[in-house]
This record gives sequence, C-alpha cells and structure tokens, in this order.
Amino acid sequence: MQPIILIDSGIGGLTVLKSLLPLMPNENFIYFADQKYCPYGNRKDNYLIIRLCKIAQFINHYNPKLVIIACNTASRFKWTVEKFLTCPVLDVITPTVCHVSKVLKAKKVLILATKSTANGGAYQTLFAKENVFAKAIPCSEFVEKIENMQIYQNDFYRLVDNKLRLTNLQSYDTIIYGCTHFGFADKIFRQFFNENKNIVECGNCVAEFVKSNQYCAILPHQNFANSQQIQILTTGDCKKLIKQLDFYSLKYSQISNVELSENC
Ligand code: DGL
Repeated sequence: MQPIILIDSGIGGLTVLKSLLPLMPNENFIYFADQKYCPYGNRKDNYLIIRLCKIAQFINHYNPKLVIIACNTASRFKWTVEKFLTCPVLDVITPTVCHVSKVLKAKKVLILATKSTANGGAYQTLFAKENVFAKAIPCSEFVEKIENMQIYQNDFYRLVDNKLRLTNLQSYDTIIYGCTHFGFADKIFRQFFNENKNIVECGNCVAEFVKSNQYCAILPHQNFANSQQIQILTTGDCKKLIKQLDFYSLKYSQISNVELSENC
C-alpha cells in the first residue's frame, strides 16, 4: 500500500499527522524527522534547499501517494520537493492562509514562526493577496525547548513572555502557530491570549484542506477498519525520539534511524 509521507525537521509535523489520522483510518503513514539537522528555523535558504533535495530523493523510494511538508520553514521550498516526486506535494502554509482568510475571515493576524519563516515572507505575501494584514514574530528559540521537552519549565514561560511582551496582542483577531512544533506548547501560549481570539494550528488547516480539495480522492469510503501503520524515521537518536513521543503522548507503530548525510 502506498504510504502518505510527512516530513519535518523534528517532532513538529506530528501535530499535523495527529490531525490527519482520524480522516484516514485506512492509510499507512511514514513520518520523516530530520532531527540530526534540527532546528531548520535559523538555517540559510540554500542549506534547506539542499537538505530537502536529499530528503525528497530518499522518500521517493517509498513510492508515496501524497507528501505533506509538515514544516512551515521547509514549506517555502515546496518546489524543491516536487522536482523529485510524481505524487502531489502539499505544504502547510497554503492551507493555513486559505482557512484563516476564507473560513475565519480574519482581518489582522499575528504569526508566531521560526526566523526563516517570519523573514521569508511567504505568509505575509499570501495574506496580502487576501487583503489580510499579517505580522510575523520570529520565535526560533521555542523549537529547541519543545524538542527537548522543556515546555513546562519556568524558563520557557519567560521566553514566551519576552517574545510577546512588546506586541499589542489585543489588536489581532487571529494568532497562527506558524511553526508546527508550537502546537505542543498550546497550553502555555494560551495563557498569553485572550479567550475570544482565533488560535490556529497548521495541522487542522491541512486536514480541512485535504478533506475539501482535490486530495479527497485519497480518503477511504466510510470504512473505519483502522488499520493505520505509522512508521517514524529519524536521522537523529531513536532513544530520544521514543522519550519525545511518550512525553507528548503520540502514537506510532515503528521507529527506525536513517542516515542522510549533509553532503550531496
Ligand atoms: N516545525 C518546523 C516549522 O514548522 C521547523 C522548526 C525548526 O526546525 O526550526 O517551521
């Protein structure tokens, strides 16, 4: 059975996988975490492009039916991944902008993202086309804390406070977690936001997009046999990954390590 493959620098994209699982009970998933080279958020564009070339060539061997770049930072380079694959490739930025502008009808959005995503401007450009004002705050520092399972430490709370202190949060109708890792710290972030604000995670937007667009064809027809296999591949340390999956209560069938060196 052809798998659906999700890719990210680390565990962040598992927030996307979590939203997809109930939609596709009979699909097999492969999740690729490039943890040896995580975080991506402070990397130069060229580095990320080369990395994605490698990953795309590698995952092509699995003959996927759909590839989801479950990483905002890498989503800007979707074309790189597409070059090596014949199946559809979905990024996380397009579905998120689509949901926030068309469904939520937001007018002023604040995006918490990595430095690469915030400065790369993909969100801002797409939102400008929809006449939505968008500002992005670079918050790359959060990624390592989330990868290292340190979100319940005071240090993390202080870091978030320092980042958000100078922004008038009340003036935004919508907050977007523009990094798939950030969903794991939702409880902490929410302490800073007022209750009636829209708080948006990419994973939910991708799930909506898959449901309502051309990707519908891959959905099973009311057959809830739930035979999902979730294979996780990491370029990092399997033992650490098992701890992370346990810490964030994530489900999986199998974990393996893959070598994918830096040089092309
Ligand atoms: N989870 C990723 C994102 O959505 C990458 C974070 C990182 O590696 O810096 O941007």
